[in-house]
Amino acid sequence: MKDLNILLGVTGGIAAYKSAELCRLFVKAGARVQVVMSQAATEFITPLTFQTLSGRPVHVSMFGRVESGVEHIDLANSAELMVVAPATADYLARAATGRASDLISSVTLAFAKTVLAAPSMNTNMWNNPATVANLATLASRHGWHFVEPGAGELACGTSGAGRMAEPSEIFAAASALARRDMEGLRLLVTAGPTVEDIDPVRFISNRSTGKMGYAVARAAARRGAHVELVSGPVNLPHPAAVECISVRSALELEAEVRARASSCDAIVMTAAVADFRPAAIAPHKLKKAPGEDERTIALVRNPDILAGLGALYGEAKRPLLVGFAVETQDLLEAAKAKLAAKKAHLLVANLASDGFGGDTNRAQIIDRGGNARDTGKVSKDALADLICDSILEKLLG
Ligand SMILES: Cc1cc2nc3c(=O)[nH]c(=O)nc-3n(C[C@H](O)[C@H](O)[C@H](O)COP(=O)(O)O)c2cc1C
Repeated sequence: MKDLNILLGVTGGIAAYKSAELCRLFVKAGARVQVVMSQAATEFITPLTFQTLSGRPVHVSMFGRVESGVEHIDLANSAELMVVAPATADYLARAATGRASDLISSVTLAFAKTVLAAPSMNTNMWNNPATVANLATLASRHGWHFVEPGAGELACGTSGAGRMAEPSEIFAAASALARRDMEGLRLLVTAGPTVEDIDPVRFISNRSTGKMGYAVARAAARRGAHVELVSGPVNLPHPAAVECISVRSALELEAEVRARASSCDAIVMTAAVADFRPAAIAPHKLKKAPGEDERTIALVRNPDILAGLGALYGEAKRPLLVGFAVETQDLLEAAKAKLAAKKAHLLVANLASDGFGGDTNRAQIIDRGGNARDTGKVSKDALADLICDSILEKLLG
């Protein structure tokens, strides 16, 4: 935390008073804290409290201050981490829909780095499908991190989920996100499906969403690594501070990986690469012939990219090769066999039923010594950090 620039956002919930303690913890840890409050937050606690604790003027209004520069952009550019506590239901809705209707929302929209939010609200507000959807959007589309509220007695007199996490918990989550332990490392990550064209309008592909690979790329970049992300077509935004290379087919993906492999410290192969591709891509749209009841498309094998890298680098220490295996049964045995066959250094194995397409996963991270680390069911962001931990252990160990 020492010398880290933190934007502390405070919105209008009853838990706003707890943020004074959070501000104090950040300052005590050596961080430079700039507080931004929503107008509603000032009804609950005065800016003077935060100004005194942080040693800096607090920003509230979009138009109130006459200073040089554009305030909301300058604020957004001034920090490496934004922590919003408490995060009201309305603030989360504004952030999820890209609103910039007040200073804190504008700063949020302009902020391109790591965001940690600690929601706090009445249980029904928390369980409302609108809030649930807003959080899902912020997590999956924008890569936000959350310290979820606990259950307990709420200020509105009811009891249930919605009470803001304690300042010490939020501080611990922020500290974990502030790690820069991958600085100086170069990571190559592949993600998403490959698309194998049949003709100009048809293709063979698979259901990979790319979420896991994008989470690994985000986590490694946040922790200071230089990250190149080679991705098949997915419906995800480019992660901040990551060099993104778009590909379509397995052959394109292989070419991009091969061109970059030797300069990397680790290669994380999450892409779901098609095993086969059509033997030929028809130059024009294929037409059905009258009376044609069946059509056979000849397929040829795609290169096994991980095995190819294993043959080149499997005996070396770098680049560390990290493979992924999705199985439907006999997970550990299948994964250990794959790790040996491909000469990977680490293999992340999961059951299709545990993670495919969703936002959570449960995996075994297996090394060559046969050690398997069960991650338990975690978010893909948390799993990405665990994979980065294992990579660091192997590279530094
Ligand atoms: C006494 C009181 C307590 C409130 N507590 C919360 C809360 O804990 N969480 C929340 O989402 N909204 C809460 N609200 C409603 C918000 O203050 C309201 O939605 C406001 O518009 C939020 O503005 P902001 O997101 O700009 O801070 C509370 C309102 C009052 C009057």
